[in-house]
Amino acid sequence: MSVPLLLCGLVGAAYAQTTANATSSVTSTSVDNAPTASTSQTLSAAETSSILWSLQSSAPADNLTFSSLSNFTYTSYTSQAPTPTTSVATLPTDYSEQAWSMLWDQVGPVATPPFNSTVIPTPEPSPVPPPYGFSSQVTTGNLSSYQLPSDFVWGVASAAYQVEGAAMEEGRGPSIWDLLSHRVHGYVADGTTGDITDLHYYLYPQDIARLKAFNIPYFSLTISWSRVFPFGRGYVNEQALAHYDDVIQRLVDAGIKPIVTLFHWDTPLALMNDYNGWTSDQIIADFLAYAQLVMTRYDKYVPIWVTVNEPQVYCGDEYPGFPSGYWPQYGVTGLRAQFYCGHNTLLAHAQIVDWYRNTLGGTGRVTFKNSANNFIPNTTSSADAAAVARGNDFQLGWFNSPVWQTGDYPASLRSTLGDLLPNFTAAESAMVLGSCDFFAIDGYTTDIIAPAASGIADCAANSSDPAWPTCIQQSQVTASGWDVGFAADPGASWLKSDPTGVRQFLNYLQKTYTGPKGKDIVLSEFGFAEPFENNFTALPDARYDQLRVDYFTGYLNNLLAAKVEDGVNVTGAVAWGVFDNFEWSSGLSTRFGLQYVNYTTLERYPKASLFTFMDFFKQHGL
Ligand code: GAL
Repeated sequence: MSVPLLLCGLVGAAYAQTTANATSSVTSTSVDNAPTASTSQTLSAAETSSILWSLQSSAPADNLTFSSLSNFTYTSYTSQAPTPTTSVATLPTDYSEQAWSMLWDQVGPVATPPFNSTVIPTPEPSPVPPPYGFSSQVTTGNLSSYQLPSDFVWGVASAAYQVEGAAMEEGRGPSIWDLLSHRVHGYVADGTTGDITDLHYYLYPQDIARLKAFNIPYFSLTISWSRVFPFGRGYVNEQALAHYDDVIQRLVDAGIKPIVTLFHWDTPLALMNDYNGWTSDQIIADFLAYAQLVMTRYDKYVPIWVTVNEPQVYCGDEYPGFPSGYWPQYGVTGLRAQFYCGHNTLLAHAQIVDWYRNTLGGTGRVTFKNSANNFIPNTTSSADAAAVARGNDFQLGWFNSPVWQTGDYPASLRSTLGDLLPNFTAAESAMVLGSCDFFAIDGYTTDIIAPAASGIADCAANSSDPAWPTCIQQSQVTASGWDVGFAADPGASWLKSDPTGVRQFLNYLQKTYTGPKGKDIVLSEFGFAEPFENNFTALPDARYDQLRVDYFTGYLNNLLAAKVEDGVNVTGAVAWGVFDNFEWSSGLSTRFGLQYVNYTTLERYPKASLFTFMDFFKQHGL
């Protein structure tokens, strides 16, 4: 078979497709949309085959074994054409191919990827040369000699909808993000979607080979719920399982440990139609069934499980602001939707962990990932200190008071929110309390906090106050008029680099949550969107991401100081993201990757910051 090959310079992603196409070419590096100075040359069949290893002949000797649950119906969906339907209300829930097509019609036309089969990876150059004039001594001064323990968890992160692409391929059902990005005008600032994005769904063998070449020990990924259950429940899509089987197989073969997240914001669209997603307690059973299927199948190979990613964001930011008219919302909207979503998330998480520990007898560690910022007071006044405490109740206490402290929400939430905040039964409280094996914090930045203009007490008593219910003011400009740190890309306007903030924050989390329980903390995401990186027209300019280098240098050194000098039990650091990807409502033009992605050719190129990140761990003994 002749195989086309894209082989791109020393550090571009080199991969081969399994689909036949006569010519092979070598393309030089350039940024997409930039004036290109590309050259191409044709490789002979002999040259091509000599640098490839085929999927068949390289099949590992030790095939992994995956356990299946028998109480599900397994099927595959082959149709690729949306079937027009007249209204959401008529959508059938019979799990048929026609129903699947109708769901896609609700989303609208989806872009087809440039190829539709899994690539055969080509060898990755190793080692890859670092940037010119680059220092691998990330830490200087007193901290230089500190060593990290050999079991310190470090790696890079991704999430299904942001990197996979192949939106309608191999039976995947749509998620809410397919609908939002396609149908809701302006929901994604640059009008892009996750239809193709990095096409990691077909390129993962090459991506994994690259991680191996870099000796990166952990890869954090999400399984797409609506790939496994195109309707969120009902029939299981066998093609999705075959895909993730191979992802896990390849990671294990490469010696890379998977950190697997079950849900990263991509609620199956069918479940939005059926009961408005996380606002309904019906989601608990469906999410549990999905978790059971996936955890049973992969637990032997997955040392760390994450049930849900950042409920503070999908419940707190998304549900109250979801546009109406795109799916039935059954009257649960606004703040009620936010807190019902949070409640159902906590119950689903706790049930999964209970089942995992007590029925499956799982051997890994399980938690959920928090989104929260380091809150510091605007001034030294006691009013500002009180505002910080209240702000932390609303961002961290909302989920972590039930899990780490009392089995219930903080008193400040209870007294302010009234019946917007559901109640736990005694049995539910007991199950939620202690349901995290460690504290996972996605800690990117710092916010300056002050009380609401009307004061906390008046605001809390007045649900018409614009600052209700948190009753705080949040900014990133200090009282002296300076930003709390240098700014990221305008597409991530919430993000400033405050390295010392991460040290403070880790100390706060240990004091407040993990310390009393003798548990540890993992910085499960942190990263930076280099300002205007998308505007560069020359690839080498884009790859030399000095502000992201500074960000990682500062954050990693402060994490080290927190661990070694302050005694914070922090056991891991995972960088966002493995490469540029679909940055939710900012789309593809805000870049967070440690590798640059050319969205035309889909090539990936390491950025300078990737070397900073890797060299830090090398310098400290890993
Ligand atoms: C996190 C989120 C990721 C990614 C990142 C950068 O909150 O989990 O999906 O988008 O922020 O904004």
